[in-house]
Amino acid sequence: MSFKDEIARRRTFGIISHPDAGKTTLTEKLLLFGGAIQEAGAVKSNKIKKGATSDFMEIERQRGISVATSVLAFNYKDKKINILDTPGHKDFAEDTFRTLTAVDSVIVVIDVAKGVEEQTEKLVEVCRMRNIPMIVFINKLDREGKDAFDLLDEVEQKLKLTVTPLSFPIGMGYDFKGIYNIWEKNINLFTGDSRKDIEETIAFDDVNNPELDKIVGEEHAEKLREELELVTEIYPDFDREAYLKGDLQPVFFGSALNNFGVRELLDCFIEIAPQPRPKESDTRLVKADEEKFSGFVFKIHANMDPKHRDRLAFIKIVSGTFERNKPYLHVRHNKNLKFASPNAFFAEKKEIVDVSYPGDIVGLHDTGNFKIGDTLTEGEVMNFKGIPSFSPEHFRYINNADPMKSKQLEKGIDQLMDEGVAQLFTLEMNGRKVIGTVGALQYEVIQYRLEHEYGAKCSYENFPAYKACWVKPEDTKSEEFAEFKRVKQKFLGHDKHGQLVFLADSEFSIQMTQQKYPSVKLYFTSDFY
Ligand code: G4P
Repeated sequence: MSFKDEIARRRTFGIISHPDAGKTTLTEKLLLFGGAIQEAGAVKSNKIKKGATSDFMEIERQRGISVATSVLAFNYKDKKINILDTPGHKDFAEDTFRTLTAVDSVIVVIDVAKGVEEQTEKLVEVCRMRNIPMIVFINKLDREGKDAFDLLDEVEQKLKLTVTPLSFPIGMGYDFKGIYNIWEKNINLFTGDSRKDIEETIAFDDVNNPELDKIVGEEHAEKLREELELVTEIYPDFDREAYLKGDLQPVFFGSALNNFGVRELLDCFIEIAPQPRPKESDTRLVKADEEKFSGFVFKIHANMDPKHRDRLAFIKIVSGTFERNKPYLHVRHNKNLKFASPNAFFAEKKEIVDVSYPGDIVGLHDTGNFKIGDTLTEGEVMNFKGIPSFSPEHFRYINNADPMKSKQLEKGIDQLMDEGVAQLFTLEMNGRKVIGTVGALQYEVIQYRLEHEYGAKCSYENFPAYKACWVKPEDTKSEEFAEFKRVKQKFLGHDKHGQLVFLADSEFSIQMTQQKYPSVKLYFTSDFY
C-alpha cells in the first residue's frame, strides 16, 4: 500500500462524554465490530468508581487501565482506526484537553435522559474552539428520555453547535421500535422481548411507502413521517465540508448497550471523518503527506512500577513515517534520539513496530527526555503549537515535609509536572512553590506518587487564588506594567516555562485589573502567543 493510501485509511479520534453517558460501552462495541475483541466486558472503564476517590488503590487501578486503554487501534473494513482514550472524570479534564490536540475528530456521547451535562459542555467547547469535526451520538434510546427535538435544541443551545440528524428514533424507552437511518435510508428495527437482540435492517428509501405502517404500526409510521418532514424543514442538509470545518455536526441515535445504531454510526464515521489533518507549527503548517517525519508528545505515562523509572511518551505522528532505530531530532533539547522499541497499539495490546504512519500513535520508552508538547522531527527545527495549559481551578502551596529528601522532592515534582499531572508556579516575591490543579483529587495523587515513586514527603497549605492568568504586557517597559507588577507583587509567579502569571483571587479582581491596566493583557490559557 502506498504512503498516501496508508494516510487516507487512518481515522484517529476521541470519544468524549460526561461520565456514565456510555463512552466505555460504545468503545467496546466499536472494538467488537473491528474484531479486535471477542466479547463484551473486555474494555475496562477508565473512570474513577463512585465514592472511591480517596482510595489510592483506586487511583492506581485507574492509572493501570488508562495505560492499557490510552490508544485502542483496530481495523474495520479498509480503515485503520485509532481511538484515543479521554478520561471522563472532571479532575482529569486537563488530560482530556491535551488528548484532544492529537485527535482528528471526535464522537460526543450524550445520555438521552440526562441530555447535555457539565463535562460534555466543557469538552465540546475545547473542540469547538479548535474546529474539530464532531459527530453526536445520543445513547440509551432503550430508556425513557427526552423528546428528540427537545434534545437536538438542547445540543444546539448548550453546546453551541449546528446539528443535522442523520438518524431518527421511532419511539423511545418501552415503546422503542427502532431507528430510521436518514444517511443510509433504511430502518433498523429493535426486536426481541429481551430487547437485547441485534437489530434487523430493512432498506427503506421512501417513508411514504404504506409498508412502513405494517412494520412499525400506523401511529409510529405517521409520527415518523411528520417528524422527518420537520427534520427536513428545520435542519440543514448534511454537508461534509461544513462538518470537516467544524461548522455542522451530524447526530445519530442508538443504544450502545444493545449494540443498536452503532454499526450505522461507525459506517458513516469511516466515510465522513477526516484522515490525519495538517497541524500548525511555529514556523509553518505541516501536512500529513510530507515525506519527512514529524510528531509531538501529547501524553506521558510514568512509573507504573516504582522500581523502574521508565515512562511511556505518546507521540502523535503528524507527517512522514516513524521508523524504529532511526535518529530523530528532539527539538527542545537539540539532540538526536533513536528508539529501539517503539510501541504501537492494537486493541488493548501494545507491540513493537517498525514503521508507523501519520495519524498513528507510538509509545516511546523515555527516561526523562520528554515533556508534554515536545516536538520530534527528521531534522527540521520547529515546534508544534496548540498544547496549551489551561488555568487550574485549585491552588495550594507545596512544602517539603521531610528536609532530608529535598532533592527527591524536587525531582518528583519536576517529573510529575512534565507528565502534566498539575502545574507548578513559582512566586516572584519569595520563590515559594504553588501547585495548581483542575481537581482536588490531584493533590492526593501527587502526594501519594511523590512518596511511593520518589521517596519524598510533601504537605500543602492553602493558597487563596481563583484563577491563573497568563500576563502579556503590550509594552514591557511601560509605566503601567511597572505599576501592575508593584501592586500585584504578592500574586505574581512564573509557570514552568518562565512565563509571567497573575494568580488572581477572584473574578472581581481580574475585572478590576483589566480595567486599571488595560495594556497588560490577561489570558486564561498559556497559548496566546
Ligand atoms: P462512561 O464510560 O461514559 O462512563 O459510561 P459506561 O459505558 O460505563 O456506561 C455507564 C452505564 O450506562 C453502564 O451501566 C452501562 O451499562 C449503561 N449503558 C451504556 N449504554 C447504554 C444503553 O444504550 N442503554 C442502557 N439502558 N444503558 C446503557 P452501569 O450500571 O453503571 O454499569 P454496568 O454495571 O452495567 O457496567
